Amino acid sequence: PPETDTVPTEKTTVPKGLTNEVGRRRTFAVISHPDAGKSTLTEALALHARMISEAGAIHGKSGRKSTVSDWMEMEKARGISVSSTALQFEYLDHTINLVDTPGHADFSEDTYRVLTAVDAAVMLIDAAKGLEPQTLKLFQVCRHRGIPVITVINKWDRPGRSPLELLDEIEQRIGLTPTPLYWPVGIAGDFRGLLDVTNDEYIRFTRTAGGATIAPEEHMSVEAALEREGDEWTTAVEESDLLIESGQRHDEEMFLAGQTSPVIFGSAMLNFGVHQILDALISFAPPPGPRPDVEGHPRAVTDPFSAVIFKVQAGMDTAHRDRLAFMRVVSGVFERGMVVTHAQTGKPFTTKYAQTVFGRERSTVENAYPGDVVGLVNATALAPGHTLYADKKVEFPPIPSFAPEHFSVLRAESASKYKQFRRAVDQMDSEGVVQILRNDVRGDASPVLAAVGPMQFEVVAARMKAEFGVEARMEPLGYALARRTDAESAPELGRQRGVEVFTRSDGVMLALVSDKWRLQYIEKELPDLTLEPLVAAA
Ligand code: G4P
Repeated sequence: PPETDTVPTEKTTVPKGLTNEVGRRRTFAVISHPDAGKSTLTEALALHARMISEAGAIHGKSGRKSTVSDWMEMEKARGISVSSTALQFEYLDHTINLVDTPGHADFSEDTYRVLTAVDAAVMLIDAAKGLEPQTLKLFQVCRHRGIPVITVINKWDRPGRSPLELLDEIEQRIGLTPTPLYWPVGIAGDFRGLLDVTNDEYIRFTRTAGGATIAPEEHMSVEAALEREGDEWTTAVEESDLLIESGQRHDEEMFLAGQTSPVIFGSAMLNFGVHQILDALISFAPPPGPRPDVEGHPRAVTDPFSAVIFKVQAGMDTAHRDRLAFMRVVSGVFERGMVVTHAQTGKPFTTKYAQTVFGRERSTVENAYPGDVVGLVNATALAPGHTLYADKKVEFPPIPSFAPEHFSVLRAESASKYKQFRRAVDQMDSEGVVQILRNDVRGDASPVLAAVGPMQFEVVAARMKAEFGVEARMEPLGYALARRTDAESAPELGRQRGVEVFTRSDGVMLALVSDKWRLQYIEKELPDLTLEPLVAAA
């Protein structure tokens, strides 16, 4: 018989159990405006996953016990969370990774990076306030990145707006079609239970003392519900029917395409509707999938190990003064101790100290799968957007940095500490805490810090003092906008009033402009100059 010239296909071995592990993972973040209830919801989810036995343990306001995700004194003083950490838990044979996003607007750049590490988002809305600015901004990022969004209307136990009005606002303002899964029975402030739209039944909740434990649920038929709740039930049915008749029913394809958003009403405080959120996540949110590399080729989840660094943080543990890089596993199996390659330098990286981190709680990680978040200790070479891989080379695209709107000159108080000052500046730069801008006129001793929000400056000052023993002075600069420019346009721009040209540490040239009128004037008078907008934060 004639010889065949077929080449034997490359043998790829997928580690045992990998496909199964990927399929049962969900990695998501909660996006919300400060005070919408993100910490309370995180805690309620932990309660439902039986990670904690009582709520109130990790939430930390008004004299309750302190939040585990707080890590700096400043944070405690302000009562906001500036760190990004990940909470992993098991729920109905699924492994859920909840990646924490800092809520304050000033830390939005950090939040955007976190969103590169998730496959879905829960958009948490305060029933009395509706869509708020930060929620909108974060939603735009989800849309931009193609992250499907589940909507949760929170605080239904408190007086608020009508459910139809809230959903109408979502549809009108962000063009996302809401598809209710669970409709509230009782107006905001009189929360009795949920109409399960899919299964046509009534879930009645019973309050527990202070909402500290899981609220018992009673499942009832439509008839029993009517008898029990009367008009409140009828209203809920009529309202949800209204939406269903107009076609607002959950459709998996449209949800994944970012056109629709399943809606759940709840109360994080009372633990009403919380397990419904988890059920929706495991039923509808996508498991980890392939991710395109720099050339646009997908890295399959079953390929050898690879991961993206989405966040670097130092000083989380004042006792150890360490530096943690958070990676999201993209493909393959991660085993602690394995030696991987750092794609940006081509150097080997040992993963002996791999941990899961949630606030101050840390534990060693032995294995991790696509979708999981792992903290790597003392990973000095790693920066946000970097890639780690094993066996099969890959590099993922960098994370875009956002247009800064706040600028400050940084100076060391004492010239004798110049060396530490330099080191501190480099550290903040590599972590992406702020962007560092320099030009010849100002020199190295007084770099300019650029940030999305001014609170990033305070973080820098606090950390320089705590970690490097450097007292630094910050003077705000009177610029409000940054535009990308080039060496050709720089001299002419430098001659303009209200403009100063800098080079960012990644080599990009930026022109800082005093205000938008100045910018408009220059664009009109000197149309040949390069002045390109940077990626806007929203
Ligand atoms: P955040 O992380 O999004 O900023 O919000 P957080 O959970 O800290 O909640 C903000 C406030 O809203 C807290 O009140 C919290 O108790 C309250 N809250 C959250 N979810 C619900 C809910 O479902 N129902 C009601 N009624 N309130 C809710 P606080 O007064 O700032 O603190 P605390 O005294 O309650 O601890």
